[in-house]
Amino acid sequence: MKIQNGQIYLENVPVTLIAQTYGTPTYVYEENRIRDNFRRALNAFRKYYPNFRFFYAIKANNNLAVANILRQEGAGIDAASINEILLAQKLGLGGDNVMFSGNFLSDDDIQQGLKSGVIFNLDDISILPRVLKYGKPEFLSFRLNPGYGACEVGDFVCNGGPNAKFGVHPDQIMDAYRMAKEAGIKRFGAHMMPGSCIRDPEYFKFITGLLMDNIGKVGKELGIDFEFIDLGGGLGIPYKHEDAPLDIDKAAQLVAEIFTEKLNEYDLKPPRLMMEPARYFVGDAGYVVGTVHSIKNSYKRIIGTDVSMNTLARPAMYGAYHHIYVNGREDEARKPVGLCGQVCENTDFWVKERMLPEGITLGDIIVVENAGAYGYAMSYQYNGRLKPAEVLVNGDKHWLIRQRETIEDLVRNVTVPDHLK
Ligand code: LLP
Repeated sequence: MKIQNGQIYLENVPVTLIAQTYGTPTYVYEENRIRDNFRRALNAFRKYYPNFRFFYAIKANNNLAVANILRQEGAGIDAASINEILLAQKLGLGGDNVMFSGNFLSDDDIQQGLKSGVIFNLDDISILPRVLKYGKPEFLSFRLNPGYGACEVGDFVCNGGPNAKFGVHPDQIMDAYRMAKEAGIKRFGAHMMPGSCIRDPEYFKFITGLLMDNIGKVGKELGIDFEFIDLGGGLGIPYKHEDAPLDIDKAAQLVAEIFTEKLNEYDLKPPRLMMEPARYFVGDAGYVVGTVHSIKNSYKRIIGTDVSMNTLARPAMYGAYHHIYVNGREDEARKPVGLCGQVCENTDFWVKERMLPEGITLGDIIVVENAGAYGYAMSYQYNGRLKPAEVLVNGDKHWLIRQRETIEDLVRNVTVPDHLK
């Protein structure tokens, strides 16, 4: 993003052109920023541990145009569901390039997961006998819940520790791998994902130590050579402008140091080191472009926009902060106002008070920052509001990569029995 003479550009495309061409609200992704984010992180980790690879957690943004950028950069796919495995297949990825990390699987999930031939990452020891009823996965890992988790978005997004539903308890991890080995499974990995959006490099060191202490004992006692060890996602981005970015080089260095130290301590063959981030790659490369449609002066002054909670769910869901720019007015003096969307719920009053340009008026274009991860992917149709369009920009080029929904999308799967017509 850049601002020139007051006008906001995404890469080199003016947001006014986006709004005129595609309407609003529209998600826009900067291709070069996604590539830069990916390369910065990959170079940092490979610098300290060359046998390193990223899988992209496609749940954060499953637009195939976006996912293809990351595939081109060399990422595999972390899939949370059977449909995400199918999305990976649409990218031409399968086998060892995809990991299935579903949780609380149904028997149908298990059968389809086995059929797909991807790496099976089990969230609980109880799943293994259920898997073995249907077949033997070639390549298996368990997701450890190391008894600790963290997230800067708040407890909502904390994926580890006693209050998380995820992962195998440390007391069960040895038995889990023993059972798998005795069943004749030959290829193993190890995994955890205890937190999301962390900007403290020490956290990554800490959780790597936790995983290695659990997995190291398993490797040693059962004679398992892990082919990969996956630290999950969690690489954070600053949502507030006063927050510092993650020092990715430092995180990579600290992780590689403790990783190598623990490999030696437990006498493990050096495996591939992996992570499966999403937010770090796509979060700050995505924006929502919206329009100011209505302004109310009542108990408060409230700016009404078409960026509603169904368009961007994070503020209403987690109290998450997203910075807002107003096109053409960034140089103006500021006044405290509220800002909302158009849904009939008060959680849609998603900015209760913020300093925004004082001249903000009907028809102004707003740009909501850091919306590339868990933005469109968590949008929905409440209040009959349709899911927005998605656009990719690269230099001064722009492409529609997902059409805005229409009324047909609201009724597509609905049938009305004859007696009600
Ligand atoms: N791997 C697994 C198994 C995951 O569950 C997740 C995210 C990731 C990787 C990617 O994590 P990341 O690098 O993006 O932190 N909706 C929330 C975030 C939920 C995270 C869910 N799991 C938000 O909007 O902040």
